Amino acid sequence: MKLAVIGADGQLGSDIVELFRAECFDVVPLTIDRLDIADNRQVQRVLAEAGADVIINTAAMHQVEKCEADPLKAFAVNALGARNIAQAANAGSSRLIHISTDYVFSGEKMEPYLENDCPLPLNAYANSKLAGELFVRSLAQKHYVIRVSGLYGKNPCLEKGGLNFVDLMLKLARERSEVRVVDDEVLTPTATKEVARQILKMLNGQAEDGLYHATAEGSCSWFEFAREIFSLSHSTVTLNKAEPGEFPAKVPRPSYSVLENHNLKKQNLNGMSFWKDALKEYLKEKHHIG
Ligand SMILES: NC(=O)c1ccc[n+]([C@@H]2O[C@H](COP(=O)([O-])OP(=O)(O)OC[C@H]3O[C@@H](n4cnc5c(N)ncnc54)[C@H](OP(=O)(O)O)[C@@H]3O)[C@@H](O)[C@H]2O)c1
Repeated sequence: MKLAVIGADGQLGSDIVELFRAECFDVVPLTIDRLDIADNRQVQRVLAEAGADVIINTAAMHQVEKCEADPLKAFAVNALGARNIAQAANAGSSRLIHISTDYVFSGEKMEPYLENDCPLPLNAYANSKLAGELFVRSLAQKHYVIRVSGLYGKNPCLEKGGLNFVDLMLKLARERSEVRVVDDEVLTPTATKEVARQILKMLNGQAEDGLYHATAEGSCSWFEFAREIFSLSHSTVTLNKAEPGEFPAKVPRPSYSVLENHNLKKQNLNGMSFWKDALKEYLKEKHHIG
């Protein structure tokens, strides 16, 4: 089976390329220098040339502050880019797997969100991603739209300064005696390797077309996530909760964005691990800890 991966050098994209190559798929990795998803002509041409059975779109403009400052660009990439790819997928009879976000929700529910809960995006990034989801769901004849959350992977996320949260905490622990982290935002940190495996499971299991949540099991605040990172890495750094308002968010974001993998579980296809187990695996693989 031939697979085109858009955003192939990103955190998630690179793990998908690695896993599917190891599984003997014929993988076409597409990076922004070859395919800018906001350029419709290029999208149609490059994806027609690729001739893939499955197209996975991991590309996005996802730095929330940048999206707020330039909503036109955010929509060009995250919404119209998704539309461009959906059109190309139909032209080539390809299945489109499109990655979306927990940020489509407002956070007010305060218990895990199901796929059919009503989204209420709080910022330009989240609105543009929701628009992208809707384009894919309404246009792409064969599709999975997969919402993920709090990603970390072994390849650096360039858009977020080259360090994911885990690596940033390990760096701060080496450089400082005290680290302060917010405790009022609850999410599910999710390893990109797990999402890659989950996509493979969905393809092998012939999951139904539709919308899916695919995050690790369980949830935590950023403070609790940091505490687990320091505990597993035997760090002696002092960890404290940030005071309310100590790190004011410049752009509104959900304070609770835990997702339930309801549609995967319904089809007996949920392969996501508990977040602490996935973190252990990541620390062992990337940092040789544990
Ligand atoms: N990171 C998170 O915590 C998180 C949470 C929830 C959902 N998500 C979603 O998960 C997906 C993957 O995120 P990630 O963390 O793997 O991101 P990432 O590491 O930043 O990778 C995204 C990739 O997309 C590329 N890209 C950006 N704009 C593009 C364009 N116009 N055309 C083609 N490629 C473009 C980037 O290239 P350059 O680096 O060269 O710009 C990068 O290779 C995204 O859809 C994101 O919205 C992420």
